[in-house]
Amino acid sequence: MNIIEDRERRTAWFSKDRFGMFIHWGLYAIPGRGEWVQRDEQINQDKYAEYFDEWNPTHYDPVKWAKMAKQAGMKYAILTTKHHEGFCLFDSAYTDYKSTNTKCGRDLVREFVDAFRAEGLKVGFYYSLLDWHHPDYPAYGDMYHGDRNNKALMGKTHNFENYLTYLHNQVRELMTNYGKIDILWFDFSYKGHMGEDWHGTELVKLVKSLQPDIIMNGRLEANGENYGSVMTDEPNVFSGDFASPEMIIPPAGLQTPSGMDVPWEACFTLNNNWGYAPNDKQHKNPRQIIKKLVECVSKNGNMLLNVSPTAKGDIPQWQQDVLGTVGNWIRDNGDSIYGCGRSEFPKPEWGRYTQNGNKLYAHIMEESIGAVALPGLKGRIEKARRLSDGFEMVTMTPWVAKEFPDCEFINYGLPEYFSFTTDEEIDTVIEITLKEEG
Ligand code: GLC
Repeated sequence: MNIIEDRERRTAWFSKDRFGMFIHWGLYAIPGRGEWVQRDEQINQDKYAEYFDEWNPTHYDPVKWAKMAKQAGMKYAILTTKHHEGFCLFDSAYTDYKSTNTKCGRDLVREFVDAFRAEGLKVGFYYSLLDWHHPDYPAYGDMYHGDRNNKALMGKTHNFENYLTYLHNQVRELMTNYGKIDILWFDFSYKGHMGEDWHGTELVKLVKSLQPDIIMNGRLEANGENYGSVMTDEPNVFSGDFASPEMIIPPAGLQTPSGMDVPWEACFTLNNNWGYAPNDKQHKNPRQIIKKLVECVSKNGNMLLNVSPTAKGDIPQWQQDVLGTVGNWIRDNGDSIYGCGRSEFPKPEWGRYTQNGNKLYAHIMEESIGAVALPGLKGRIEKARRLSDGFEMVTMTPWVAKEFPDCEFINYGLPEYFSFTTDEEIDTVIEITLKEEG
């Protein structure tokens, strides 16, 4: 089996499941100014570590989180086991800077894995390649480190090899101690720190030897800006199995130069921060999330939607509300998401198509005046039903449509002047069963 076939085999479930939960949780929930606060505000390591002394998420109940994710229609979840700050949510033998050494004394990763698995969700680990706590990670003069301008550290030597051993050891722990892990999500590479700089070949080998079916993103050689060699026809050993666009939906999905589809997963925040940021009120709304999820699927991609728990361990109520509404829509319309991808028909002007075999899903997002035109579908419709309730759609050619012979039309009923309104609907999905062509 070549590398592409192997990737297709391992990513098959992922390209069906389409919707996952991202969870950014760490000490940065205490300052509540985003997970980059240590860098943004140039907080030195010792000062930052004071949050460690405070950490005590007494409300942490991953069973609740898992049920929320499931109700939202998400099929997998990815938790930050360690973000750039270096604090480990798991019981690592290689550091003291871990949740089991805080007031809470719990292995938060283990509880996450157990709870999400119990709900039938797949589990993934985000692991930061950067580490702003480890003494052997470059600080002074690094591009991002909170101490990058801290003159007190000028000339301080560090042994990056030690850090790499630490990184590999921790990845081994994560791949060994928590059962089957479905996704490993590295974050991220930058100049001087990419691919082999992480001893990447060895790292990938290690991961695959412990978790043969796992899928990985491409950030062992890439980041949000560039997706790396997964975009080529000959991906290298660091390429991972899917690209990770961040806060953007690729305009036309992702293909290699020869036109081969590249699996991808776009990740999004619910406001403008990954970590808990209560003052960031730029909340996205459920309509937007649903429409953008549909857009991802219509371009053969996944959506990974982030939640940002508080330092106490609660997912903010407003985020729960968004997930709740998204979940209600998915409950009725999930067939148009799971197992679906790009359609053989071009994007219609009133919305989008997703498709799964001979089922074509018309996502009607704009109101119509009269029946809705389906260009190119003349003679192709066996039947059409509103997906949410199975209500029969009338397939017709209105008497005023003689000038548009390649169009089929659908409507809620007769007469043909009935209009689709979108006042209450976010996205009305019509399931069209296609006839074989010819
Ligand atoms: C970024 C950031 C980070 C976030 C990630 C999610 O590259 O470093 O804070 O975790 O994107 O995609």
